[in-house]
Amino acid sequence: MVIPVKKEVCSTGIEELDMKMSGGIPLGSTVLVTGCSGSGKTTLCMQFLFNGARKGERGVFFTITEPLFKLTKNLEGFAFYDKKLIESGMVNIIDLRIISERLGLDTEKYTVEDAGALLDILKDIADELDVKRLVMDSITALCYRLQTREMIRDFIFKLGTSLAVMKCTTLLTSEVPPQTFKFSQYEIEEFISDGILFLGDIDRKGDLIRTLQVIKMRGTDHSRTKFALNISAQRGIELVPLLKSTEFEAFLKR
Ligand SMILES: Nc1ncnc2c1ncn2[C@@H]1O[C@H](COP(=O)(O)OP(=O)(O)O)[C@@H](O)[C@H]1O
Ligand SMILES: [Mg+2]
Repeated sequence: MVIPVKKEVCSTGIEELDMKMSGGIPLGSTVLVTGCSGSGKTTLCMQFLFNGARKGERGVFFTITEPLFKLTKNLEGFAFYDKKLIESGMVNIIDLRIISERLGLDTEKYTVEDAGALLDILKDIADELDVKRLVMDSITALCYRLQTREMIRDFIFKLGTSLAVMKCTTLLTSEVPPQTFKFSQYEIEEFISDGILFLGDIDRKGDLIRTLQVIKMRGTDHSRTKFALNISAQRGIELVPLLKSTEFEAFLKR
């Protein structure tokens, strides 16, 4: 008889998502959260951090796309947000552009050395804060600041190596154009990822329904079924069976 080894997981706290991955993301994994603008990437990552912080797991959110005031203003609308967790340092939100400025870097264009320096700082912050959960929003915007494909490839692999030795579970957001079944802009990001959560949408009679699909999650059994993803102020992100959210509701309305 084979006795299954119980794997340690990092629960996202989004119940239905954890259930789809046999309890959560395998501890220490790097997961790409892919989707077009507005698909729910930032919200999912924030919910992951706040849920972790409530369980005593410190987290850090590195942003390079949105200014801090905008991010927190939007977060305030969600029930999962708790200002106290920010004040107590359980959730840390850091603007990479401010760090770049302090390092004296051109915030819009990085050289190989700049990218290396930024990576070192990122590692130092994560180590110093002893974070269990790390988010980078977005890897696409970060790579956009690098000039050549070679630099991008080099940076992504270095990032992968750094994350592999860190003890935290990481979510990297990846921007893709709408209506594409593509996981990354540079097609390298998925190589350093142990998992891929794909946030898409489907058009049902003019209604755009957000969806989530676990494409890959190394080290765990997981469903590959497409689920509908709802975003609400009260519950943040939640998953419901597609049938229930579309045909079933339409059927009830008849
Ligand atoms: N406070 C809120 N209450 C309810 N829904 C919200 C709130 N803030 C954002 N949303 C929903 O989330 C969407 C944006 O999600 P977001 O996580 O920022 O996407 P992405 O990071 O993929 O661009 C908005 O279009 C809106 O539908
Ligand atoms: Mg976003």
